[in-house]
Amino acid sequence: MTYKVGVVVGSLRAASYSRRIANTLGSLAPAGLVLNEIAIGDLPIYNGDLEAEAPAPWQRLRNDIQTSDAVLFVVPEYNRSIPGGVKNAIDVASKPNGKNLWVGKPTLVMAQSAGPLGGLAGSFALKQTLAGSGAITLPHPEVYLGRVATLFDGDGPMVPDTQEFLRGVLAGFETFIARFMPR
Ligand SMILES: Cc1cc2nc3c(=O)[nH]c(=O)nc-3n(C[C@H](O)[C@H](O)[C@H](O)COP(=O)(O)O)c2cc1C
Repeated sequence: MTYKVGVVVGSLRAASYSRRIANTLGSLAPAGLVLNEIAIGDLPIYNGDLEAEAPAPWQRLRNDIQTSDAVLFVVPEYNRSIPGGVKNAIDVASKPNGKNLWVGKPTLVMAQSAGPLGGLAGSFALKQTLAGSGAITLPHPEVYLGRVATLFDGDGPMVPDTQEFLRGVLAGFETFIARFMPR
């Protein structure tokens, strides 16, 4: 049996490093993980008044989260936190009351930034929100991809060391998921 892992890419720009990282993960994941992107760019900002007739992108997101065994986030740090779109997606999938889809959901946070700290503050902000919404997050190994531009061979592939690191992280994530969702 394989686990279905939804991948949330925290940046919407075409040349995003988050996306380049996410695009690399498929080839690094163990056979037991099947990765599929969960789009967040089209979600109206959460507003409880809209619940009476939930917008179609909210319904799609909720279905994607519900049908994923686990969720993996690849996020840049924005102003020492996470991009607003990522927070909005978590908010949308946590509502309406009684239908919080995050409760007990295994999650993995991969943070990256242009600078040396690798999105540490953004990662912590995301983990705080995930804990608050009831998700469970892989505690170790932590993923802070600093000086992200140096982790790719120009416009080409991710450098081998980082590929090996992320291969190990994904193997650990599979073990983590299996603890909560035995095969
Ligand atoms: C609005 C905004 C805020 C940012 N704030 C931070 C920050 O607080 N710390 C940091 O290290 N980098 C910050 N950055 C830089 C991004 O994290 C960095 O360029 C990242 O690699 C961009 O990810 P992407 O290529 O996936 O879009 C910020 C970028 C933007 C657009």
